[in-house]
Amino acid sequence: MSTTLKVVIAGCGVIGRTHATALQEFPGVSIVGLVDPVAAAAESMAEALEDGGRPRPEVFRSFADAFAALQVDLVTLATPSGLHVQQGLEVLAAGKHLVIEKPLDVDLVRAREIEAAAAEAISRGQVVSVISQHRFDPASVAVAHAVAGARFGRLTSAIASVAWWRSQDYYDSAGWRGTWSMDGGGALMNQGVHTVDLLLWFMGRPIAISAHTARLAHDRIEVEDTAVATLTFENGSLALLHATTAAYPGLAARVQLMGSAGSAVLDNDQLEYFHAKDAVGDPGHSGLQTRGNQAATELRRYPEEPFAGRDPHSFPAGHVRQYADILSAIREGHQPAVTVTHAIHALAVVRAVYVSATLNQPVLFEDVLAGKYDDLEVFTGPAAHTSS
Ligand SMILES: NC(=O)c1ccc[n+]([C@@H]2O[C@H](COP(=O)([O-])OP(=O)(O)OC[C@H]3O[C@@H](n4cnc5c(N)ncnc54)[C@H](O)[C@@H]3O)[C@@H](O)[C@H]2O)c1
Repeated sequence: MSTTLKVVIAGCGVIGRTHATALQEFPGVSIVGLVDPVAAAAESMAEALEDGGRPRPEVFRSFADAFAALQVDLVTLATPSGLHVQQGLEVLAAGKHLVIEKPLDVDLVRAREIEAAAAEAISRGQVVSVISQHRFDPASVAVAHAVAGARFGRLTSAIASVAWWRSQDYYDSAGWRGTWSMDGGGALMNQGVHTVDLLLWFMGRPIAISAHTARLAHDRIEVEDTAVATLTFENGSLALLHATTAAYPGLAARVQLMGSAGSAVLDNDQLEYFHAKDAVGDPGHSGLQTRGNQAATELRRYPEEPFAGRDPHSFPAGHVRQYADILSAIREGHQPAVTVTHAIHALAVVRAVYVSATLNQPVLFEDVLAGKYDDLEVFTGPAAHTSS
């Protein structure tokens, strides 16, 4: 690998541009190529980079063309979800480091294929990561560290809810949106998978999932715009999961985590509430705290040096934070914080919700993960039953 890390971004739509903006934060990184079969999308992104004072990347229709023409170290996939594994396998076979936008794919069978391919690639020194940028929010990190330190006592329950609004125009804006084959699901798969990943990070491995889905406020989509589920976990705790794109005008993405010695609330990536054992300013480590919200003092444990003095809302802070992790993994030869296996677990929970809703019965996480329902064709709940 040369000193400058040479990156190709595939997919020049909404999130492809976010990746370009995020990567520009790193002086040792150069975006050398863009891959998109829609030439106009790639050309306009190349132009935007050039207008921003960066070298204009070359534009290609396929990886084969890009790899033949350029020296490439890292490929980022910002393409429709149903293409992720197929393209990821091609990138790994070419020996490049790989970043895949969430979700890992729409299909667990293919996801298992890339888990195997990633394991081989890792043994050859390649780095593979899947975007889950909210794991890097200081608020999420604070909660994860508190869980790891058992500072909430015994975790008892969680409520995870993504209550957003997506207009019909959003679903109509690209042919792949809202389809089973390319989006892989609706509110839970596309918008909610971040929150599912956080829930698993905090709560551990699930046991059983029981769910319902419905399509209530949109037409011309195959998938759900509302999903609810209950989950049980190996640590004995219980959770409620809710994801919707039918909550006009859009409320919050929120995770409440509750334990026998403390609780926390994440609201739109912020630490709204935090109360735990051994709080900052508790030199006696007196155990259960009598004070209320410790969020502000707790967050002081996680200063963000690289962003000092910058408003994290003025740039894609989550993607920048995750790239800092991925780039250090590449440079220092270790694995990144978010692996393909983490992403498969999140995907398996989403799939378990769809399987449970389709069968109208609880399902075991391990059964879904192991492939018991791989052949089941899932559909969206009550709306699918009542509409013809
Ligand atoms: N992490 C996040 O917060 C976040 C946010 C939005 C989207 N996403 C994910 O990013 C992915 C893309 O979403 P989007 O909203 O940017 O979609 P989009 O429709 O805006 O862009 C997708 C782009 O991929 C291109 N494309 C299609 N087939 C391709 C191919 N074979 N090779 C290369 N490019 C191809 C399209 O022409 C388009 O330009 C999805 O998986 C989505 O779930 C993640």
